[in-house]
Amino acid sequence: MSTVLLNKISEVKKEINNWKQSGYSVGLVPTMGALHRGHASLIKKAKETCDKVVVSVFVNPIQFCPGEDFDKYPRTIENDKKICEELGVDIVFAPNAKEMYGENSRLSNTELTFVCPPYNFVDCMCGKSRPGHFDGVATVVLKLFNIVKPDFAFFGQKDAQQLFIIKKMVKDLNLDITIIPCPIVREDDGLALSSRNSYLSEEERKNALTVSKALFYIKELYDKGVTDTSILFDSAISILDKNIELEYIEFRDFSTFEKVKEVKNNTLAAIAVKSGKTRLIDNIIL
Ligand code: PAJ
Repeated sequence: MSTVLLNKISEVKKEINNWKQSGYSVGLVPTMGALHRGHASLIKKAKETCDKVVVSVFVNPIQFCPGEDFDKYPRTIENDKKICEELGVDIVFAPNAKEMYGENSRLSNTELTFVCPPYNFVDCMCGKSRPGHFDGVATVVLKLFNIVKPDFAFFGQKDAQQLFIIKKMVKDLNLDITIIPCPIVREDDGLALSSRNSYLSEEERKNALTVSKALFYIKELYDKGVTDTSILFDSAISILDKNIELEYIEFRDFSTFEKVKEVKNNTLAAIAVKSGKTRLIDNIIL
């Protein structure tokens, strides 16, 4: 079966109702497109797990803050469809903003219903510098869940806070969906793949490489027995290129998301930086 590209919610629902009647399990991989090997790893996992796979491609306006890169975010739907075809995806769902949010002139909570993830999970890490971002993510993901009605949905550990918030939403709102976390895919030199890497100049990319280096160094020290987060923090800083602007380095329990002072197994070490104007995130599980 070849991949179909659908733009309309009604078309997707129709197709999925047919699948459900035939008893097929459905997997959803939500993306904003500009697909790379990181996305491909989620799609491959979905293909292994489910009978039918839907990849959504939607640059979601309500998760971008004013002044962020919504307008210049890479949009490469033809190539995305080609990648999905090669991977055997059944449906690429690529709606526009009007299809998703209707005629509302303001895409804000003055006119639209939003999902508000718990304050404790959004008022930290990426949520601090991106107010409202996770409300926008949770809202669009819930809408995609309601449209596609997946049995399984696939998210990357690259966006660890997002993954955590989605898992929490599924639990708190009693959604019958299993969330499958997928490991970070990196370039050979360690840089975590991201659609935003295309913004980086050669120099900025070189500097950005020190982010994964800093995380690998944290892991190396932890494996040697260093557990004090302030020592690990300072050691990571010493690796970062001086042109990298640090937003945060945080250590959190990967099952509860609570901040830790002493690292133990299954601690997330997460970092956010800017290289030039480009905001990048990365993390490692210790
Ligand atoms: P996007 O940035 O396109 O990412 C889509 C999915 O791919 C996310 O689950 C993300 O964690 C995963 N991903 C990105 N880079 C990865 C890498 N290097 N290795 C493994 N997985 C990776 O995240 C979003 O879109 C949006 O917020 C979305 C959930 C689609 C809601 O709009």
